[in-house]
Amino acid sequence: MELALLESMESIGLSQPNPAVGCVLVQNRQLIAKGSTRAWKQEHAERVAFSRLDPGADLHHATAYLTLEPCTHQGFQPPCVDLLLKSPIPKIVIAVADPDPRVDGEGIRLLRAAGKEVVVGVLGPEAYAWNLNFFSTKKTGRPLWAAKWAQTPTGHLCDASGHSKWITGAESRAYTHWLRQKYDAIVVGARTFLADQPRLTVRDCAGPLNRNPERFVFDPKGRTLDLPEAAREGFRILVCEPELQARGQGTPAGVIPVPVEKDSSELWTVFQDALQGSEFPRPLQSVLVEGGPGLLRELFKHDFFTVVHRFTGIRNFTALSEAHRMEWVGGGPWILETEEEIQGDLLHEWRKED
Ligand SMILES: NC(=O)c1ccc[n+]([C@@H]2O[C@H](COP(=O)([O-])OP(=O)(O)OC[C@H]3O[C@@H](n4cnc5c(N)ncnc54)[C@H](OP(=O)(O)O)[C@@H]3O)[C@@H](O)[C@H]2O)c1
Repeated sequence: MELALLESMESIGLSQPNPAVGCVLVQNRQLIAKGSTRAWKQEHAERVAFSRLDPGADLHHATAYLTLEPCTHQGFQPPCVDLLLKSPIPKIVIAVADPDPRVDGEGIRLLRAAGKEVVVGVLGPEAYAWNLNFFSTKKTGRPLWAAKWAQTPTGHLCDASGHSKWITGAESRAYTHWLRQKYDAIVVGARTFLADQPRLTVRDCAGPLNRNPERFVFDPKGRTLDLPEAAREGFRILVCEPELQARGQGTPAGVIPVPVEKDSSELWTVFQDALQGSEFPRPLQSVLVEGGPGLLRELFKHDFFTVVHRFTGIRNFTALSEAHRMEWVGGGPWILETEEEIQGDLLHEWRKED
C-alpha cells in the first residue's frame, strides 16, 4: 500500500477533480504492474495498472492494492469495479472507502458479493490525508481553503520594511512549489503582490510537475491597479466594485469587480464567492492562501481554513513590526499532521478536525 500511495503522487495536480489514486498489482510477492489516475476524464488508476500487465499474466493468485475504493458508476470512464470483477484476482486491499454518493461502499459490496476477499483500511488515514482536497469537498460541498506561510522563530513573516526573502531554505521553497500543484487556486494579498511581485509558480518543484494553479490577488482598494498592466499578467485581481467605479477607468483586463464596499462586514464572504464563482479550467476544489499576515489574519478570523502549512526558518530579522507577526486565531480544533525538519527549517502541517 505504501507503494500504491507513492504511485498516486504521480497524479498530484493532474487528476483533479478526481482524487490522485494509486493501484499496485502483486503476485507471489512480486510487483507485476502499477498505475495512477490520469488527467480528468481519462483512465483511473486500476485501468492504467491493468493496461501495463503482460498479456499472458495469470492473476489467479494476485492481490490488488488500491488507495481508494474502486468506482461503480459510468462517468467519463467505465466503472473500475467491473475490471476487478471480470479479473480472477482473488484479493483486493483498499486504503479508504470512496465517499462519492455514486460509490459510497458499493464497490466494496460488489467485490465481496462476487466472492473476493476485500480488506479495507490499510494506511487509510494516510490515503485520506493525501487526498484531503477531494474528501473535504465531497463532505462539505465547498472548496477547501488552506493557509501557507513562512515565519521567523519570533513569528514574523517579513522585516519592518516588508522584506521576506528568504526566511526558509531552497528545499522548503521547492516543497512549497510541489505543494502548489495540489491546489487549484492560489491567493495573495495586495500588499504582498506589491512588495514581492511573486510569480507563485511551481518552477522549483521536486517531483512530477503537472500544473501551475490559477493565481489571484485579494485587493479590496485596487492598490495594484496603478501598476503597469504587464506586471499583473497571469493574475486575476479581485477589487471592490465601488473602488473601481471611483477610478472611472472601467474594468481593466484581468480585474474582477467584487460587488461589495471595502469596509463592509460582508467583505470576505463576498470576495470568497467572487473567487469561487470565477472560471476555472476544471471544477474548483481547493484554494491556497500564501499571505501576507494581514490577509491570513482576516481569513483566520472568518474561519476560512481547513489546512495550515507553516514553515519556521532559523533566520531572524533585526527591525521588526508587530503588524507582520502572524497571530493564529480562530478555526480549529486542529490536528497536527506533519512535524518535519527540512534542511534546518521546521514544517508543521495541521488539518481542522472534521
Ligand atoms: N513569509 C511569508 O510567508 C510571507 C508571505 C506573504 C507575504 N509576506 C510579506 O507580507 C508583507 C505584506 O503583508 P501585509 O499584511 O502588509 O498585507 P497582505 O496580507 O499582503 O495584504 C492584505 C490585503 O488585505 C486587505 N485587508 C487587510 N485587512 C483588512 C480589513 N480588515 N479590511 C479590509 N481589507 C483588509 C489589505 O487592504 P489594504 O492594504 O488595501 O488596506 C490588503 O489588500 C510583505 O512585505 C510580504 O513580503 C510574507
